[in-house]
This record gives sequence, C-alpha cells and structure tokens, in this order.
Amino acid sequence: MPEKHSSPSQAHNAQPALVVERLERVFGGKGNPTYALRGLSFAVEDGQFVAVMGPSGSGKTTLLNCIATIDRPTGGQVTVNGTEVSRLRGKALARFRREDLGFIFQDSNLIDTLSGRENIALELSIRGVKASETDVRVRDIAERLGVKDVLEKFPAQMSGGQRQRVAAARAIIGRPRLILADEPTGALDSRNSAVMMETLATMNAQMGATILMVTHDPFAASHSSRVLFVRDGALFTELVRGADDDKAFLTRILEVQALLGGEAPHAR
Ligand SMILES: Nc1ncnc2c1ncn2[C@@H]1O[C@H](COP(=O)(O)OP(=O)(O)OP(=O)(O)O)[C@@H](O)[C@H]1O
Ligand SMILES: [Mg+2]
Repeated sequence: MPEKHSSPSQAHNAQPALVVERLERVFGGKGNPTYALRGLSFAVEDGQFVAVMGPSGSGKTTLLNCIATIDRPTGGQVTVNGTEVSRLRGKALARFRREDLGFIFQDSNLIDTLSGRENIALELSIRGVKASETDVRVRDIAERLGVKDVLEKFPAQMSGGQRQRVAAARAIIGRPRLILADEPTGALDSRNSAVMMETLATMNAQMGATILMVTHDPFAASHSSRVLFVRDGALFTELVRGADDDKAFLTRILEVQALLGGEAPHAR
C-alpha cells in the first residue's frame, strides 16, 4: 500500500500528485539483463515543479515511461493522484493518458501526416472541444511557444526545435494536471529554451500543474523547485530550492552535477 505523505503544509491537498515506490525495470532476458531502474522511490506534492537529472543511461526516460503507462515496471509501483496506474484498464486508462497526463517526449513524436495545427488540436478534437474554442486555444499556445509560423507545416518541414515546441504545445493544450517532460529543451537554442521554461513555469504557477522534467541542462533545472539526481537507476541525492533564487540554486545544482559525474553539462 502507498504510504500516506500528508503534512500540515499540504492541507489544501493532502495527497501527493505522484508517488513512485521501489520502482524496478529490468530489460532483457536472464542471460543478459539491463537494470534500468533499481528500486527508485520518491513522492511529488501536488503543484510541485521537479527536475530530474542524471547521466545518460541512468534510467530517466524509463522512469517517465513507467509513470505514463507506456512501459511496465518489473517491480514496485506508481501512484498518480491516489490511483495506482498499473490497475487502470480500458476507459479509465485511456482517460488517464489523455486527460490527466501531458507527455513531452525526448523525440518530438509528432504525427507526420498531420500539420502542426492538427497535431496540436488533436487532443481537443478527440475530447469534443468546440472548433471555435480549439482555434483560440491553439492560437494562444502557438503564440506563447513561438510556433505560429509553422502551424500549417508538416513535421518533416519543421526544424528540430520547432517540432519540439509543437510537441510541447500538443502536450499541454489539454491543461493536464501532471506534465512529464523528457528533455523539453534538448533541441532548443538558449532563447527558445527560455521560452519553453517560461511556458512550463506558467503552467505550474497559474494552472497548478505538477511537473516532472528530465533535463541535462542545469539552467533549465534551476527554474524548478526541487531537483532529483538519478544514477544507475536509483536516487543519488536531491536538492530543494528553499529560499534560493535561480542563480543560487544553479550554483548548488552544478556542484552536485560535478559530484555525480557522467557527462559535462551542455555548453551555452
Ligand atoms: N527497450 C529497452 N531494451 C533494453 N534496454 C533498454 C531499453 N530501454 C532502455 N534500456 C536501457 O536502460 C537503461 C536506461 O535507459 P534510459 O533510456 O531510461 O536512460 P536515460 O537516463 O533516459 O538516458 P539519456 O539521458 O541518454 O536519455 C540504459 O542502459 C538503456 O540502454
Ligand atoms: Mg532519456
């Protein structure tokens, strides 16, 4: 059974948005197993903005896939808003994936045969949102993420960074309560990274979305309120922002990153 993580400061919503408990994912057969996750545990309060950092191959994408029900853990469990996600079936599972969750993938994962506009609007049309409202919301999110000019283009006609921003627009247009983002700034220059981070921060601050964002970029991580450092499929350590401003938090993140090793942060 999931532990109760209630605390007096969370009186408005005692239940954490996300609980990951002793999560394990082993790939491959007995002869040649890869231990991607080795008993990872953490909880995220409702409305928290959490960054996940760690070397390449440390299990970050596997973690997000297990939370999103794209992959199945071989041990442990994931609970989102009080529901263990592996128990979801049929309509409830489809609703969870479609309405509660926004997933920004590491590769943008757009549908090649749909235009930017159609990719972004797809979620809303599946849900039966009126065309006039869809138009307004697509325009608003496209403007915010700077992709208005590519709305009529197909993914193959967009740059990598444009595809990534269109994919982000698609993931958040439905205003999900939980946003999972796998290196959302990976293909972006520093100006567009800042736009992406501002958009996520706004989703967090104004709509109260809970965000779990994988990033190799310490600058991006410094916008979060907490950073989980993963190594070899387990939690290495974590940092909480506390009273730090972005710059002070960045300094602490860089210190832990140096300790964690793996790879050098992206040059900016
Ligand atoms: N489908 C799979 N089959 C076998 N091994 C896999 C599979 N997916 C991931 N792995 C392995 O699991 C480990 C964790 O992979 P994962 O993609 O979660 O890493 P990551 O932290 O996201 O890395 P990166 O920063 O490079 O994206 C790696 O050793 C990887 O090779
Ligand atoms: Mg990854």
